[in-house]
Amino acid sequence: EQIKKGNYDHFMQKEIHEQPHSLTTTMRGRLRDNDVVLGGLKVHLKTIRHSRRIIFIGCGTSYNAALAARPFLEELSGIPVAMELASDLLDRQGPIYREDTAVFVSQSGETADTLLALEYALENGALCVGITNTVGSTLARKTHCGVHINAGCEIGVASTKAYTSQIVVMVMVALAIGADKISTQSKREAIINALHDLPNQVSEVLKLDSEMKDLAESLIETQSLLVFGRGYNYATALEGALKVKEVALMHSEGMLAGEMKHGPLALVDETLPIIVIATRDACFSKQQSVIQQLHARKGRLIVMCSNGDASSVCPSGYCRVIEVPQVADCLQPVINIVPLQLLAYHLTVLRGYDVDQPRNLAKSVTTQ
Ligand code: G6P
Repeated sequence: EQIKKGNYDHFMQKEIHEQPHSLTTTMRGRLRDNDVVLGGLKVHLKTIRHSRRIIFIGCGTSYNAALAARPFLEELSGIPVAMELASDLLDRQGPIYREDTAVFVSQSGETADTLLALEYALENGALCVGITNTVGSTLARKTHCGVHINAGCEIGVASTKAYTSQIVVMVMVALAIGADKISTQSKREAIINALHDLPNQVSEVLKLDSEMKDLAESLIETQSLLVFGRGYNYATALEGALKVKEVALMHSEGMLAGEMKHGPLALVDETLPIIVIATRDACFSKQQSVIQQLHARKGRLIVMCSNGDASSVCPSGYCRVIEVPQVADCLQPVINIVPLQLLAYHLTVLRGYDVDQPRNLAKSVTTQ
């Protein structure tokens, strides 16, 4: 086992640091001359473009990855994109139609709730697309078509490299679906160029490792942690909080910053640490205002911002700042989750918990 971990102490740590490589393998052979080629989807693209709705279905981290890709898919396809947690779809027996495209996202391809939701969507006649890291899995076999994530085997129970590769796959799916639109051509070309450079940018953000360890040291004793995000980074808030909850066994909640004033604001005081994601995108000024409101209530703030933006997000230096490289808006969630993965990892080690086998959790939940 130690050989497989190489120079790392834990699989989760190894898998976090592997991301420049796993992202490269995810994209290998799929980006060509300002175009995206996804062999597994090719013959179905026309049907997908004519769907009345695209529904993302998954559980846990896979659901969060789909949520991160949703805004870009909406923008490029113009098709309404619905989000479904597999268990909730089954509980409600929510309506699914023949004109829908149901996209199932699962690292293992064996999660029971996701597979039951797949059976339900097949019965209702939807086109079913699988996005999985596991070749030959039930999800890969039972869907009509799909895309493999190709992130390499993930061993740590908490998903890290599969998450970032899932986002990249769904960005590529959005590029492929939108490829018939002249109006978005320049945007698509810019994103394809940015994808080429993404592994380098992930290598850059991994240099925050010791800074995140330092931040983890300052948070060891806290009872609870909030993470606020919105837009492209609402998913980052949910996924960052999920990582802390899963492995560091610390209460943590990801929240939509737009909902802050509708309840969460009551929790704010000098002790509760709050991470605000405020990297540059269309929501930046709204996040600046969130930071001001939290500061006015003496919140203990940790702000993630784009490189060079520390004084714009925190003019009088009252918050702790994490600066990350700025990339294209739809790819920013891939960058922004990395410091939070590192934070969760270091918090777990410092608190003395099992990193790769968190209490009560399984890598793949194959029972309902
Ligand atoms: C379990 C794992 C999570 C994972 C979820 C979905 O709960 O502990 O890390 O995100 O299942 O797994 P999947 O294989 O479907 O992505």
